[in-house]
Amino acid sequence: MGSQWGHDKVYLKAKSEGYRSRAAYKLVEIQKRFDVIHRSDNVIDLGAAPGSWLQVVRTLTDGRVLGIDLSPIPPIEGVETIEGDLTDPHVYVQARALLGMVNVIISDASPKLSGQRSYDQARAIALGEEALGFACNVLKHGGNFVVKSFQGTDFPELLTETKRHFHSVKTCVTQATRRGSTELYIIAKNFVD
Ligand SMILES: C[S@@+](CC[C@H](N)C(=O)[O-])C[C@H]1O[C@@H](n2cnc3c(N)ncnc32)[C@H](O)[C@@H]1O
Repeated sequence: MGSQWGHDKVYLKAKSEGYRSRAAYKLVEIQKRFDVIHRSDNVIDLGAAPGSWLQVVRTLTDGRVLGIDLSPIPPIEGVETIEGDLTDPHVYVQARALLGMVNVIISDASPKLSGQRSYDQARAIALGEEALGFACNVLKHGGNFVVKSFQGTDFPELLTETKRHFHSVKTCVTQATRRGSTELYIIAKNFVD
């Protein structure tokens, strides 16, 4: 992740603190500002490889933690993993068989970028919609959901759809997001199905 952009300060900080990627600080900030994960929560992390969000989540809860990604996630003590596609219904069935319904779902999933901005944004937002669909099938009533998205023509639709399922929905651009990026996170609390 760092190599694409050069080894910036945040990347080097992440390495020195033992995080697998700079993305860790995005979740740290989201947690500080929005308090999405509580001590006894079971948590699923979608698009979890290489695993820095999982490292953070493991410190925030004593509950069970499951990471799902297309790519293998190198082992983390106390974390279960599934190598699979979050858009595949078999994967959420597998997740439910492992953990049952959970308190929190977080998704930092993003597709491989082609470099064509509007095309990439549309695919990223479509993946966010898939993550929302996953959450609606696996979240407990009252649960919380965080999903990465991007400003773009399809974004308002994803936001509106999220608002249909949660009592409180906010957006957040994190400090660790690179300047010039359109990345933002939707923070949705209190699932009402
Ligand atoms: C930005 S990385 C996630 C970084 C991670 N949060 C961390 O802290 O280490 C995005 C991930 O989304 C995954 N991804 C993209 N599409 C996916 C899909 N359909 N199902 C599961 N994972 C997917 C990619 O394989 C990639 O590992």
